[in-house]
Amino acid sequence: MVFGNESPMKVQVCKGKSCSERGAIYLETRLNADIRKFDYDVTVEACLCQGKCANSPVILINGETFERMNPVTASQNLVKKLNQFKSSFISKPWK
Ligand code: FES
Repeated sequence: MVFGNESPMKVQVCKGKSCSERGAIYLETRLNADIRKFDYDVTVEACLCQGKCANSPVILINGETFERMNPVTASQNLVKKLNQFKSSFISKPWK
């Protein structure tokens, strides 16, 4: 449930050493570009190491972890999660 100006979705990009060395900045840039381009109501922020350095870079979308991301897969996961989030608000007809 969304209250006030709180964003319904939160994306976190790990900015730990391993993820940073493996392109976390490119993930963050791509995700922010998607949000601006499609006018998504999403917050993107940095987070500390998630303990999954072997599978870096890592992002979290509403707390769900996505590993071995690149800018394209990060974007695809964002869109997929947004679609799931939106469809959860569409009422289904009774059968
Ligand atoms: S630095 Fe990102 S998971 Fe460890």
